[in-house]
Amino acid sequence: MKNKTQVAIIGAGPSGLLLGQLLTKAGIDNVILERQTGEYVLGRIRAGVLEQGTVNLIRESGAGERMDKEGLIHIGTDFSFQGEHFHVDLEKYTDGKHVVVYGQTEVTRDLMQAREQTGGITIYQAQKVELHDIESDTPYVTYEHQGELHRLDCDYIAGCDGFHGVSRKSIPDNQLEEYEKVYPFGWLGLMSDTPPVNEELVYCAHERGFALCSMRSPTRSRYYIQVPDTDKIEDWNEEKFWDELKQRIPPEMAERLVTGPAIEMSIAPLRSYVCETMQYGRLFLLGDAAHIVPPTGAKGLNLAASDVDTAYRLFVKIYQDQRTDLIPRYQEICLARTWKAVRFSWWMTMLLHRFHSAGRFDFRAQQAEFDYFIHSEAGKATIAENYVGLPFEALE
Ligand code: APR
Ligand code: PHB
Repeated sequence: MKNKTQVAIIGAGPSGLLLGQLLTKAGIDNVILERQTGEYVLGRIRAGVLEQGTVNLIRESGAGERMDKEGLIHIGTDFSFQGEHFHVDLEKYTDGKHVVVYGQTEVTRDLMQAREQTGGITIYQAQKVELHDIESDTPYVTYEHQGELHRLDCDYIAGCDGFHGVSRKSIPDNQLEEYEKVYPFGWLGLMSDTPPVNEELVYCAHERGFALCSMRSPTRSRYYIQVPDTDKIEDWNEEKFWDELKQRIPPEMAERLVTGPAIEMSIAPLRSYVCETMQYGRLFLLGDAAHIVPPTGAKGLNLAASDVDTAYRLFVKIYQDQRTDLIPRYQEICLARTWKAVRFSWWMTMLLHRFHSAGRFDFRAQQAEFDYFIHSEAGKATIAENYVGLPFEALE
């Protein structure tokens, strides 16, 4: 088992795999330690909207071939309010930018395959991963694999191990600067092999609660409905889901909705979270390890990609030009973009969901806000600019 590398990457989700591929291409040695099996990682179903910056980075990593072939280009996105349907032309308001609909699971699969082809090392089922001496110039990671204890020495550690990972927890509590908002509802999602009800995604605000019509391909749909955070998956069944969805989407769409057996059905809680300590000593946090956004607006994976973009370019500068002076820039650059995406996801969530604690005034103000944004050129431009993604910042 390899016991020395340049960058030790914790976690083989999209952040870890994408960073690993980019570093390997740049000739920077790296090892990924993942707690689960590869199959388990691929079993997780997440969002599927890629910004241009994310698409470009996946291409740069060498894993973009299938995405370019199978990804669906969306030049617009739709909204509805109490059943009335509106279209926002993304290209018109952003000088021709669009998003690509391609599932995160597929991105992960492509990155895993690319890593296999380039001979990159990923150690799956690495248990009890622990980070050591991250404040020193000689950090190392220990882990158990197939019952044996291993030590991996490295120059830097990239914590790509998601919200529940070990990396963030390795930073002393008194050094952590955290911000959090938990919403009083979750999203119940259903995936089915049925044709999507609409060509574009439709974000639906309704007094019964929010709903989203999304897709993975021309033959696979992904739908969500807002449910109270107290609901359990056992409280729902497919028939009840479809009935509720039909009541929240525009009536003409409800009429043409094709229903079918669920391939997957689960509830995800909604949360906004930012850990402003994105770098501590030799440890860098990327993706969900550092921040969580509610899925409204599909920013999670894209935010992870922009962290990877910054970290990758930083490591190249460090190894090619000895630019360790740029290390503090990592957190500055990432946080500026993170907070803007956190704000947008929070705003979309507040705009489109039903808050049962809200009074009559709040409901009217929410309606007026929607009415304003959807009928104002400036309002639509703001939505479009954020939805297609704010630019990835250069390192210097
Ligand atoms: N040791 C090793 N690996 C770990 C540990 C640990 N202690 N804890 C967690 N992991 C692994 C998880 O099993 C998972 O495969 O780290 C990986 C983290 O992956 P994600 O949670 O997918 O996070 P990230 O790669 O940052 O992806 C961000 O994916 O999770 C979505 O909504 C999120 O879209 C966003 C994007
Ligand atoms: C999804 O397709 O799963 C999806 C799309 C857009 C979102 C969230 C989730 O905002």
